[in-house]
Amino acid sequence: MQTLRLIPDTDGLTRASDLLSDGQTVAIPTETVYGLAADARNGEAVARIYQAKGRPSFNPLIVHLPDAAAVAAIATVTPQAQALADAFWPGALTLVLPLRDDAGIAGLVTAGLDTIGLRVPAHPVARALLRAFGGPLAAPSANASGRISPTSADHVLSKDGGLNGRIAAVLDAGPCDVGVESTIIGWVDGQATLLRPGGIPAEAIAQVLGHPLARHDGDPVAPSAPGQLSSHYAPNAALRLNATPVAGETHLAFGSDGPFTLSANGDLTQAAARLFDMLRQADALGRPISVAPIPDHGLGAAINDRLKRAAAPRD
Ligand code: TXA
Ligand code: MG
Repeated sequence: MQTLRLIPDTDGLTRASDLLSDGQTVAIPTETVYGLAADARNGEAVARIYQAKGRPSFNPLIVHLPDAAAVAAIATVTPQAQALADAFWPGALTLVLPLRDDAGIAGLVTAGLDTIGLRVPAHPVARALLRAFGGPLAAPSANASGRISPTSADHVLSKDGGLNGRIAAVLDAGPCDVGVESTIIGWVDGQATLLRPGGIPAEAIAQVLGHPLARHDGDPVAPSAPGQLSSHYAPNAALRLNATPVAGETHLAFGSDGPFTLSANGDLTQAAARLFDMLRQADALGRPISVAPIPDHGLGAAINDRLKRAAAPRD
């Protein structure tokens, strides 16, 4: 794949928007860092984010919206969240809010959680693109997994930790102003909690709320691996991996057809896109679940990581 470098004029924005509508990934400028965007309603497009980054596991991704009015269709806005949105959006603040059942967001975006991280970015190019695209964009930082976050299009295309040849395009709007990721606030046991320090100081947020923020487990750094998120989705049913189907189970197939197939033709992108939604559907049937072997290369590593966590013994 050849990665296009697009100028953010009308043509460039239209091109970027068309690529996103086509399920491709496009790196976009925000005021914090460059994000690797995909249509948050399209599971296979979101799977391509993980593919491009080479991420070995699925973390919930932040979803970007053009304005605060767009939030209501996706999440429940509590009064405290509304106060923070009024004070800091558009800007470098992400709010983790209860996901609506009818939000239409791909399960892979939230890694199966029933909450979602939302942000209205301030960067004029990000906002113009969101308006042109007309839908929610999932976007983690546009770097290879484990590498430094990019604050310019050159970083995104860099030979060292960049994504050149792995994504459809980058919209080049020069360097980012803020340079660190957004501050993430969630509500843990009803308390506004700092999940990740970032571009908006915690003190400024506390001032709007009128009280200090709680800290996650006394650790100001957000949980980075899904297993560390206590609320992370795990099925109620027992889960067997690398399994051949037996009677009485709901079997998630891979590489063969069936009522619950992650991918009939063994496509890992499709399997990743379907994983969390299919786990939920299977769980709702109330029978034990088994999953066919998934190859451990490419996105398969992330799928297997998540499955191992979901199958691990629980308290
Ligand atoms: O500045 C930023 O926030 C950049 C730009 C591109 O907007 N985006 C970014 O996204 O840093 P990302 O996907 O790398 O951040 C994801 C992190 C997760 O690792 C997790 O800590 C938190 O956001 N997060 C997202 N959704 C969450 C949820 N439902 N519950 C808890 N944490 C969540
Ligand atoms: Mg990152």
